[in-house]
Amino acid sequence: MRQLLVTGGAGFIGSNFVRYWLAHHADDRLVVLDALTYAGNLESLSGLESLANYQFIHGDICDAELLEEILPENDIDTIVHFAAESHVDRSILGPEAFIRTNVQGTFTLLEAARKAWVNARRGQRLVHVSTDEVFGSLERHEPPFTETSRYRPNSPYAASKAAADHLVRAYFHTYGLPVLTTNCSNNYGPYQFPEKLIPLTIINALENKPIPVYGDGCNVRDWLHVEDHCRGIEAVLAAGEKGQTYSIGASNERENLDIVQQICNCLDGMLPSKRPRRDLITFVTDRPGHDRRYAIDASRMRNELGWHPTYAFADGLEQTVRWYLAHRRWWERVRRGDYRHYYAQQYGVSEA
Ligand code: NAD
Ligand code: DAU
Repeated sequence: MRQLLVTGGAGFIGSNFVRYWLAHHADDRLVVLDALTYAGNLESLSGLESLANYQFIHGDICDAELLEEILPENDIDTIVHFAAESHVDRSILGPEAFIRTNVQGTFTLLEAARKAWVNARRGQRLVHVSTDEVFGSLERHEPPFTETSRYRPNSPYAASKAAADHLVRAYFHTYGLPVLTTNCSNNYGPYQFPEKLIPLTIINALENKPIPVYGDGCNVRDWLHVEDHCRGIEAVLAAGEKGQTYSIGASNERENLDIVQQICNCLDGMLPSKRPRRDLITFVTDRPGHDRRYAIDASRMRNELGWHPTYAFADGLEQTVRWYLAHRRWWERVRRGDYRHYYAQQYGVSEA
């Protein structure tokens, strides 16, 4: 039986992980720590409150005192660290919050774990959930990223995650902290905040609004269903080697424009409209420093941990589209407040 602390558990991947874990590990106890920033949403965890082995704590990973209380009080032996500022465009508009949470926050968490786990028991583990963006951008002909790829972060977001990865590595080598890092490719699925490409496209297409595509739309991302990512973290927790890093991805490279068109076609099939929704596609100014291509070689996950993705992309995308259709209340609520201001600033439209 494990006692888990999940940071950032009210966000997209965190909330999917919490649901997945409680459904598959009913004997474990799970504490979620989340600051409930614009991206955190308790509604993504609704229905879990009544479980005796689940607790939510509203708090900040930069709060050392709080962490130093939570870890021993709950006898935490497993930490899954999702909490982060996660959106590249916001990191370009305002990088400071990214340095605070992703760098300072990860440092604070590592220090708290080091203190709490001073007499390391067998089985204690901290999984730091990172991203393929730390490796920079690939040319079309280059092989996908692996665990040995060079760090070459290009956005403030990627640089802040790279800094966190380095701290995690250093805490293993210097203090022997039982850490593991995962570098995952782009996730999609239920509960993703609508600032990201896939939910943004679904929602704008549903509302008959322009669908903004940056640059020429030919940037490539390697898409993985969020549940497959959660299963990957589960595999790393179960059998990963301490101090190691694991690249997670589905070898599912797609150009942005293809994804957007696929979503439009999918919606046209489900809810026919007068004009094909692909007519809403609008090419807009490119993201500064926009990475051209990400791709992951997940051989280590497959060969050493026996993990493999289970979702075919077309099925996962259709399931995701259906989820947004069925959860209008969820996305209408998260879009209120700060998001309207951000959207207006990012896409140069009025805040109405
Ligand atoms: P998200 O933005 O949806 O969620 C982040 C969560 O962290 C939110 O609930 C937010 O409230 C919380 N949080 C932010 N600052 C905090 C703080 N100071 N203290 C406590 N909680 C705080 O992000 P996501 O897409 O779910 O990503 C989760 C993690 O996975 C991140 O570390 C991200 O870098 C990584 N990752 C994401 C993807 C992806 O495609 N989304 C891919 C690879 C890796
Ligand atoms: O690769 C993993 C990363 O994937 C994670 O670390 C990040 O947290 C996550 O946000 C994601 O980063 P991206 O920048 O790749 O995701 P995003 O959904 O913002 O954009 C996907 C692609 O779509 C990217 O090439 C930019 C483009 N895009 C995005 C938006 C929001 C558009 O063309 N138009 C848009 O409006």
